[in-house]
Amino acid sequence: MKNIAILGTGMVGKTIGTKLISLGHAVMMGSRTENNEKAQEWSKSNGSMASYGTFADAAASADIIFNCTSGQVSLEALQLAGRENLQGKILVDLANPLDFSKGMPPSLTICNTDSLGETIQRQFTDVKVVKTLNTLNCELMVDPGLLNDPGNLFICGNDPEAKFEIDSLLKTFGWEKIIDLGDISASRGMEQLLPVWIRLMGTLGTNKFNFSIVK
Ligand SMILES: NC(=O)c1ccc[n+]([C@@H]2O[C@H](COP(=O)([O-])OP(=O)(O)OC[C@H]3O[C@@H](n4cnc5c(N)ncnc54)[C@H](OP(=O)(O)O)[C@@H]3O)[C@@H](O)[C@H]2O)c1
Repeated sequence: MKNIAILGTGMVGKTIGTKLISLGHAVMMGSRTENNEKAQEWSKSNGSMASYGTFADAAASADIIFNCTSGQVSLEALQLAGRENLQGKILVDLANPLDFSKGMPPSLTICNTDSLGETIQRQFTDVKVVKTLNTLNCELMVDPGLLNDPGNLFICGNDPEAKFEIDSLLKTFGWEKIIDLGDISASRGMEQLLPVWIRLMGTLGTNKFNFSIVK
């Protein structure tokens, strides 16, 4: 059993938080305010292992932290979580730096020679950032068996032990084919898959699909 913080009260935070609770972990959901309504509701419907608080409360209580905030504000959310509460911990970053302000399709606010994953790692040097799960819909993140062939999950990060720990956790979600793309700079490619992912969603008429790599 791990103490896990979910930073984010959106659909992704709730879905991952509920999955982690079902696997026997203690989960605190964090938001900008102490009494966020969505966090309270989520906590109430997930039993005694679920709790809520501010981003800082959640990060302070955790061994592992999931960044489930909007990619455009993730750095602000992590600042609110507090450097001292993040220090030395694993931060699973699944956020995408998407800008929807000019409508569909969104653009990436960071790309080409940089990424959100790398930016977080640069700004929080003593945090072990592991980028994963950002290339598929949240229901599939926690239940790959929804697809006949679940396909692949990508993972990257600078700290091999942190990646190993998260790889093991993802296996408990049901993931078998996890491809380690190396250090955190692989976040660039993982985040830049989003324009293709969004186009595919339109073409296929569903968000329940995944990338499958063949050699
Ligand atoms: N939807 C999917 O299936 C999917 C798949 C792959 C990746 N992702 C990524 O997952 C992340 C979460 O997506 P989501 O739709 O669940 O949530 P979201 O709506 O993108 O983000 C919600 C969170 O952002 C926080 N937030 C908003 N403005 C903020 C600010 N100015 N400063 C600090 N925090 C702020 C909110 O805080 P409060 O709680 O205080 O309101 C809330 O907790 C995104 O980065 C998305 O790209 C989503």
